Amino acid sequence: MAGTQPRPLVAGNWKMNGTTAHLREPRLLAAMLRDVKLRCEVLVCPPATLARRVKAVMKGSRIRIGGQDCHTAVSGAHTGDISAEMLKDAGCTAAIVGHSERRTNHGETDATVRAKAAAAHRAGLTAIVCIGETLEERKSGKTLAVVSKQLEGSLPEGTTPANTVIAYEPVWAIGTGLTPTTAEVAEVHTHIRKELGKAVGENAAAMRILYGGSVKPSNAQELMSADNVNGALVGGASLKAADFIGIIKAYA
Ligand code: 13P
Repeated sequence: MAGTQPRPLVAGNWKMNGTTAHLREPRLLAAMLRDVKLRCEVLVCPPATLARRVKAVMKGSRIRIGGQDCHTAVSGAHTGDISAEMLKDAGCTAAIVGHSERRTNHGETDATVRAKAAAAHRAGLTAIVCIGETLEERKSGKTLAVVSKQLEGSLPEGTTPANTVIAYEPVWAIGTGLTPTTAEVAEVHTHIRKELGKAVGENAAAMRILYGGSVKPSNAQELMSADNVNGALVGGASLKAADFIGIIKAYA
């Protein structure tokens, strides 16, 4: 639907951080957000071991929880893996798939990511599909071609704005303190929106496209103001309630 403005999403990816000692942060976050009027949804993706506990300490708040990855199968002989159905059972409403750290550390290809996104859909979870170029690819002018290819390969049949969110995370901006300029972010996001038309037709306008990579309270407002940015995927700054709320408030 042309002209539809999707409701933004600010999602926190804790990565491999957090034990029960860390539960005070989501508890604090829920308390801090209680009386804040927000124009966005908020999601916290803790390690799967903490999913239920984080959900419990945020009970009564609007904050949802998600997983950081899922296996393609429902169940079976896959030691150490977690299925989308298990995440759903643990209270998650979403799963990040295809994060660059999974693509790099676990050799995940676009085909793997596509199968994982399909698994998330099967379980009734929103798939947050991550794409983004390396520094080398950016320097050689390949950014738009890289994200086009990742998008084309990573979105399964049946992708809709209701079951899928795109996260553009330039690999060189993750955990480095470096960010693209607002104009560079707008260029890529506008390109992604256009490319999404191939996968979801006119629904592309309603799909959320998050920016991720060194988002902090000090740069959130500016990054979120770029064209076709509908929220953020936040790593390090999502671990502390005070920092995360500073980003969420870009939508207060
Ligand atoms: P940082 O916010 O720590 O750069 O991480 C971004 C990220 O990878 C979120 O998925």
